Amino acid sequence: EKGNYRHYMLKEIHEQPLVVAQTLQSYVRPFEGEVALPDAGLDLAEVNRVTIVACGTSFYAGMVAKYWFEQFARVPVDIDVASEFRYRQPVLEPGGLALFISQSGETADTLAALRHARAEQQRIAVVVNVPTSSMAREADLLLPTHAGPEIGVASTKAFTCQLAVLAALAANLAAAKGRLTREQEREIVSHLQEAPAALNAALGHDEEIAAMAHLVAPARDVLYLGRGPDYPMALEGALKLKEISYIHAEGYAAGEMKHGPIALIDDHVPVIVIAPSGPLFEKTVSNMQEVRARGGKIVLISDAEGLDQAREGCMATIEMPKVHPLIAPLVYAVPVQLLAYHVAVAKGTDVDQPRNLAKSVTVE
Ligand code: M6R
Repeated sequence: EKGNYRHYMLKEIHEQPLVVAQTLQSYVRPFEGEVALPDAGLDLAEVNRVTIVACGTSFYAGMVAKYWFEQFARVPVDIDVASEFRYRQPVLEPGGLALFISQSGETADTLAALRHARAEQQRIAVVVNVPTSSMAREADLLLPTHAGPEIGVASTKAFTCQLAVLAALAANLAAAKGRLTREQEREIVSHLQEAPAALNAALGHDEEIAAMAHLVAPARDVLYLGRGPDYPMALEGALKLKEISYIHAEGYAAGEMKHGPIALIDDHVPVIVIAPSGPLFEKTVSNMQEVRARGGKIVLISDAEGLDQAREGCMATIEMPKVHPLIAPLVYAVPVQLLAYHVAVAKGTDVDQPRNLAKSVTVE
């Protein structure tokens, strides 16, 4: 039930600290400082390549995971949307792990891709929220998210739980391949354990974000910019906004702006910049200045340190807690979800049942 919330989506956004904590319980042993998988169906030490396949928001979780697998485990990663994967004759060699990410576990494109990978002798890992789903049944390595039922068509809590599982999987893979010291593993566990409280702090900005919805609601186009793991977050922010508010939105890698999309910028275009302070911050901010110089109306999402350096000239800012880069994608998901939600409410659209969309897409 919706309880005191006006929509399932808002309720599900607010459940994130709890369900991420719930999900992490199956993947980390905080006292030992160890990551662990709930399913020992597969020897990760043998994995020499990972192929990630998913659709929509689950695909963006996969894009974030690619950074982690490569960074921690130094294993090469390929990633595709499921509807493209089967038809491009992907090279799938022995020793490959094919990883499918899905809230429903029933998405037709993803399921067909899973069966294709199985036929090509890949080991099959599945990150899924519905434990009785087709994908769950067909996995060699089943990695459940414990988000609970997700009713809103726009995926929110399933996404952050997917990220939690994928971070733990990346650390497990790295450990299995001997690429993680005990100390590094302990640090990863402690950062993951900080996620629920950081999500809570991010949710504290709900009313403030509601109050800025009128700045975005009249727009015809909205751009989202990010670098590194915040690039998929820009794509996710844009997807959330378009699916529930029907405003045209695009996510770009911040550095790609100058290769074309900057031509779209004028003083009617809100640009949402996702930029936690850290090694990529300066570069993202210089891309942001280019946008501002052309009249773009910037909403900067960063932490106190980042905002101190770059808030001047922004139309609005949203302050996130200062977090380790590993959990930043989980935390920065909250303001982009809330912004999409409140803009949709301001426009009066049907937030939980947006037009033309179904919760589970069972046609190819
Ligand atoms: O159930 P799945 O995770 O496989 O669904 C994939 C997409 O259909 C889904 O994420 C879709 O993009 C959402 N409506 C996004 O909010």
